[in-house]
Amino acid sequence: MTNWDSLASWWELEIVTDPAYREDVLPLLGDLVGSMPAGVVLDLGCGEGQGARSVGGTVVGIDSSHVLLRSANRVIPVVQA
Ligand SMILES: C[S@@+](CC[C@H](N)C(=O)[O-])C[C@H]1O[C@@H](n2cnc3c(N)ncnc32)[C@H](O)[C@@H]1O
Repeated sequence: MTNWDSLASWWELEIVTDPAYREDVLPLLGDLVGSMPAGVVLDLGCGEGQGARSVGGTVVGIDSSHVLLRSANRVIPVVQA
């Protein structure tokens, strides 16, 4: 299994800032979550939390990477699993 702690700085510097996320991925996520009943959202594989920041509301992030969860935890409660 990939150790995402070792990829965390690359992910945060190169991928999270990729315009494709802002222009394509996050709007799709917003459409998906927006079509669901209100409630707590579990973001499985939340990474550094960009999805949670994007959809807002009550989101709990779950991820295996301690490094990425430290970033996510600035905006949402997180669980390492
Ligand atoms: C491609 S990244 C996507 C991160 C985030 N969803 C986003 O769109 O920015 C995949 C994430 O899933 C997490 N992940 C991968 N396999 C996992 C597993 N078996 N259990 C928990 N988290 C896992 C990684 O640590 C990483 O943060």
